[in-house]
Amino acid sequence: MRLAVALTILIVTILGAAIDGYNCKIVQFIFGDSLSDVGNNKYLTRSLAQASLPYYGIDYGNGLPNGRFTNGRTVADIIGDQTGLPRPPAFLDPSLTEDVILENGVNYASGGGGILNETGSLFNQRICLYKQIELFQGTQLIQRKIGNAAAEKFFQQSRYVVALGSNDFINNYLMPVYCDSWKYNDKTFVDYLMATLGDQLQILHTLGARQLMVFGLGPMGCIPLQRVLSTSGNCRDKANQLALSFNKASSNLIDNLSSKLPNASFKFGDAYDVVDNVIKNPYKYGFNNSNSPCCSFGTIRPALTCTPVSTLCKDRSKYVFWDEYHPSDSANQLIANELIKKFGFVSVDGTSAPSPAPAAAMAPS
Ligand SMILES: *[C@@H]1O[C@H](CO)[C@@H](O)[C@H](O)[C@H]1NC(C)=O
Ligand SMILES: *[C@@H]1O[C@H](CO)[C@@H](O)[C@H](O)[C@H]1NC(C)=O
Ligand SMILES: *[C@@H]1O[C@H](CO)[C@@H](O)[C@H](O)[C@H]1NC(C)=O
Ligand SMILES: *[C@@H]1O[C@H](CO)[C@@H](O)[C@H](O)[C@H]1NC(C)=O
Repeated sequence: MRLAVALTILIVTILGAAIDGYNCKIVQFIFGDSLSDVGNNKYLTRSLAQASLPYYGIDYGNGLPNGRFTNGRTVADIIGDQTGLPRPPAFLDPSLTEDVILENGVNYASGGGGILNETGSLFNQRICLYKQIELFQGTQLIQRKIGNAAAEKFFQQSRYVVALGSNDFINNYLMPVYCDSWKYNDKTFVDYLMATLGDQLQILHTLGARQLMVFGLGPMGCIPLQRVLSTSGNCRDKANQLALSFNKASSNLIDNLSSKLPNASFKFGDAYDVVDNVIKNPYKYGFNNSNSPCCSFGTIRPALTCTPVSTLCKDRSKYVFWDEYHPSDSANQLIANELIKKFGFVSVDGTSAPSPAPAAAMAPS
């Protein structure tokens, strides 16, 4: 009896595979900025947004710079790990092949990139979200290898992460050199971002995205760079208010899209409150510093990136911020834990993802 069931399952599986042509793994496609970049900017040789020098990556793998703008893992790394998904390689990595994509997905995230094309122009080179989506469209040519039906299934069962927005404020709207800063006010700028993001997410849906997570913003007025630019050294309230407005509007937008688009399970999550708490009460969360970068250049601040001549803090796990912009590995762990709780997702093998300690989302480049 049991043997018969087993045989039936085996036959059905073989037939199923034959009909499908290709039995695809579940992988991730990641769209983002420096908070999710795993090496794309390394290959943008004219870009000023770089994490290619020590001490970036000091707590990751062999400890050499790997393109991540932090000492260890990104939030998307941690969430993917906990869901049982492989870490997708950078799109511009020369070793990326169709087989690698089918096994691991792709990460299009680029430091300095934003929802808007014009965001981050001061970095010279970065891949904005529209361009990242164009690159993803190119990735769909994989259908020539595996066939249309299998490709459709592959892209529909994949998981999608969209995590941008901080640069649209920090490296656009809040900087007077950008014309968006005088063309819009707080409300019309957030409306403009939502209209753009809404169009972008709909394009992703037409390209197959069904299970998609959008990460919100953290209290970006509290990143060391924003504090050092304010005369008091306190968080910049205006930037924090903008992050809150962005989160609220995004949450509505994504709920709307999720109910409107066929088969879409689009989810929004942010870790604003937890990060805000950590910044106010670092000791309670096991941190020792929540206002200055672990990697800094002595009294010269802001030193915009961490470099081999910078000084490192004594205990990297005790600092909320790694550099002027980016959270440390331990802050990312906290942020990922919070997002996992908010998304309430299950791992790809169907079990509930472990739901660890409380957590937090932050800022840009
Ligand atoms: C943004 O850039 C994309 C190309 O990456 C282009 O197709 C699109 O027209 C641009 N949108 C605007 C509003 O400039
Ligand atoms: C969401 O849909 C509601 C009702 O259709 C609408 O009033 C609201 O403006 C929409 N919000 C966004 C952000 O699209
Ligand atoms: C929605 O899901 C159903 C069942 O899996 C499928 O038949 C249908 O083609 C899907 N529609 C779209 C637009 O993805
Ligand atoms: C925490 O910070 C204080 C000064 O801010 C320092 O004296 C102490 O050694 C730090 N502790 C750890 C574990 O890093």
